[in-house]
Amino acid sequence: MRQCPDRSGHALRAVFDRRAAAASLARGHAGGEVAASGVWRFRELLLPGTGPTLAHPEGDTPIYRREAVSRFAGVADLGLKHEGQNPTGSFKDRGMTVAVTHAVRFGASAVACASTGNTSASMAAYAAHAGLPALVFVPAGKIAAGKLAQAVAYGARTLLVRGDFDACLRLCREASEKLGVTLLNSINPWRIEGQKTIVLEMLQQRGWQPPDWIAVPAGALGNTSAFGKALIEARELGLIDRVPRIAAIQAAGASPFARSFKTGFRKRYRVAAETVATAIRIGDPASHDRAVWSIRETRGVVEKVTDAEILAAKAVIDAAGIGCEPASAASVAGVRKLVRTGVIGAGESVVAVLTGHVLKDAEIVMKYHTAPGRGRNRPLEIDADLRAVARLVRRS
Ligand SMILES: Cc1ncc(COP(=O)(O)O)c(C=O)c1O
Repeated sequence: MRQCPDRSGHALRAVFDRRAAAASLARGHAGGEVAASGVWRFRELLLPGTGPTLAHPEGDTPIYRREAVSRFAGVADLGLKHEGQNPTGSFKDRGMTVAVTHAVRFGASAVACASTGNTSASMAAYAAHAGLPALVFVPAGKIAAGKLAQAVAYGARTLLVRGDFDACLRLCREASEKLGVTLLNSINPWRIEGQKTIVLEMLQQRGWQPPDWIAVPAGALGNTSAFGKALIEARELGLIDRVPRIAAIQAAGASPFARSFKTGFRKRYRVAAETVATAIRIGDPASHDRAVWSIRETRGVVEKVTDAEILAAKAVIDAAGIGCEPASAASVAGVRKLVRTGVIGAGESVVAVLTGHVLKDAEIVMKYHTAPGRGRNRPLEIDADLRAVARLVRRS
């Protein structure tokens, strides 16, 4: 892999921009996966050294702008960076391509992770690509069917643990220490390196002009950690001249980090987590310390939103034709709350990250739209008869 010998901001920007322009030509060509990847474009800032590189390719996700979502959130300048458009439907692919590549280069014999669903789906896909056996620990009965199906379909040995995510992570850590399998949760530093590219790519898409704020859903806090690291490195390298503030948003029923923020991070909390947003149902965030650093370094904030607020935001994002999984909508729900409480100004620019695809959790969509309430879109069963269709069309 050719590297960039000059690491000044100006030279790196030129290299990254040249690779971005060439990416679409590389897509679909034999051996073009690395050149087409929105992660490996930033290779100088991720993984030192050379060797085999496992890319699907991933990244290169769009930033949507939709009037209805901006109005709902209360900021005119709102971009939605949609990480659900990665190969396995979530941002996890960005960290996984780097962590699995590192594991392969260092001769791993098998990989393992604990997951609320998306990590296992992603790890299973990249392990299959690398030809490595994969071991997955997920909380039994607490994972969306689509995500479980992905891990199973991609061939991972899937263990349904009678316990919550935090129990799964404890078990997985023990297993990886005692059984010699490589742990690929976000405590693996190479996952964080890959996830930095969500921010780097967003900055590049904006012509290296940072927004005022970046809002991100927060569970185990891998992204919160990665975003702070990416921003501080980008400023130190001269890729950007000012650092956006991070708004990390938790679900109210799983908000130990938001509680800790309120104490100025003097205390760390662990809670029994419960929320409709299963991807962030985490009571003891593994990357707490690194995330504290990120929030402090970016003058960031941590906020929590209720399940009702998350589902209301999701309905607006979905109805705009974009769609996302429940945890993702926490970012937009959080922006709305922070605008209403005066923390984010209505005239400021915000990029909210949507972390997962709408199809990841179809059960929640159907539960929401078949319940009574305003703005629901209940599917209607009819006879196979044009008169029935005509009656409905007239009524609506
Ligand atoms: C869709 C989705 N959003 C948000 C998160 C939380 O990210 P983090 O653990 O990096 O805070 C996850 C993690 O599983 C996720 O799958």
